Amino acid sequence: MEQTPTLPTARATPKKVFVKTYGCQMNVYDSQRMTDALAADGYVATEAIEDADLVLLNTCHIREKAAEKVYSELGRIRDMKAERESNGGELLIGVTGCVAQAEGSEIIRRAPSVDLVVGPQTYHRLPDVLTRVHRGEKVVETEYAIEDKFEHLPKLSRAAVAKRGVTAFLTVQEGCDKFCTFCVVPYTRGSEVSRPVAQIVAEAERLADAGVREVTLLGQNVNAWHGEGPDGSEWGLGRLLFRLAEIPGLARLRYTTSHPRDMDDDLIAAHRDLGALMPYLHLPVQSGSDRILKAMNRRHTSADYLRLLERIRAARSDIAMSGDFIVGFPGETEADFEDTLKMVREVSYASAFSFKYSPRPGTPGAEMDGHVAEPVKDERLQRLQALLGEQQQAFTNSMIGRTMSTLIEKPGRQPGQKVGRSPWLQPVIVDEKVAEIGDIIEVRITNAGFNSLFADPV
Ligand code: SAH
Ligand code: SF4
Ligand code: F3S
Repeated sequence: MEQTPTLPTARATPKKVFVKTYGCQMNVYDSQRMTDALAADGYVATEAIEDADLVLLNTCHIREKAAEKVYSELGRIRDMKAERESNGGELLIGVTGCVAQAEGSEIIRRAPSVDLVVGPQTYHRLPDVLTRVHRGEKVVETEYAIEDKFEHLPKLSRAAVAKRGVTAFLTVQEGCDKFCTFCVVPYTRGSEVSRPVAQIVAEAERLADAGVREVTLLGQNVNAWHGEGPDGSEWGLGRLLFRLAEIPGLARLRYTTSHPRDMDDDLIAAHRDLGALMPYLHLPVQSGSDRILKAMNRRHTSADYLRLLERIRAARSDIAMSGDFIVGFPGETEADFEDTLKMVREVSYASAFSFKYSPRPGTPGAEMDGHVAEPVKDERLQRLQALLGEQQQAFTNSMIGRTMSTLIEKPGRQPGQKVGRSPWLQPVIVDEKVAEIGDIIEVRITNAGFNSLFADPV
């Protein structure tokens, strides 16, 4: 075939977008979908901020520090933009995610170098927003759009998915109606929306088709998902998991984050009957004190939580628990905190996240009496993390000598190694020659670090 010579000047270099992601897994998913939306507009993703024509900070508002980080990062990028402009170039700056939703135009007031502010429900409008920015507008888009953004986002491309690897996130539910008194999510993500079954299945099939072996379903309240089935009836998460397990190639399923109040019988049955559903459950409890749980509006007691775990463990004995904790919620006494330690000892977590309470403007918690002094929060956090750290180490060590399945994910950091994933989300390091990326193999664990495992094939 004859080649048509193309002059380099005739080919426009594609614009580059650099996306920095803060916060939870849903932001990771959203960053990918924004990149996909911009790809349709001619942008390619770059890992190097210096090369970018557009920088997007996909932000998190969950704790004060998370939001402050965004403003200090904006300061640095402003300097890059000034330098670029002094050389006749251009650099656009956008803020997306939960800070964008919560602060809106305040961001441009505080950081005038920002060109666009787009909330989580309007990502599909990004190409249009950029057109307006190029006309010289500063754009703030933070309404909860009436249209379904998932319907309007471009379909995942096979090439983009394949580049991202053999594990993937898939948002099935977004927003939250629970209004825990410490939490901004109901304000930043809006009220609960469940994607319909057909949409989720189509996306999962695309992922599987591009080589994805393990899918983690995401939602701020993922087990409250109740989507419309193909026959118009309402499905729950347990039923959805069974449906997704039928997709050829998809070998492993997970979901996060769950609320204890939404663990229904079908979902527990899925843990019992569905081999593809991994035996690892992130089920935050926040506190072990009934008084604090009530003040947090969690709407369950510590005994409810423990009973629920009993039922889950009866269904799947090797399930490992993970959780989130907040120390120093307003009114928390030493006795309340000790109830949390007691709960942690009773449950025994494979891993957990723990945080100092951070008052969020606009939430009921921020207005409560009895704010706990910072040094007290520090001290409680240290004690809790010491206990959780011991439990995590004990859990990891308990793996030595065991045989388990491992999904080979990527090359290791050391030459000659590959890294896989255990059913319990631990990195498993194996000799690179034993399997290809995407393979699921049986291994025996020979040694353990704090979180990672070393293994030989069996
Ligand atoms: N939907 C999930 C949690 C989402 S936020 C659930 O209901 O459990 C992730 C975690 O951040 C929470 O579980 C909580 O532990 C922590 N968090 C949320 N708001 C916080 C605040 N104001 N201060 C400190 N930690 C907070
Ligand atoms: Fe926040 Fe509570 Fe909703 Fe979780 S359930 S997102 S902690 S309000
Ligand atoms: Fe943060 Fe928003 Fe996720 S506040 S934790 S990025 S939902």
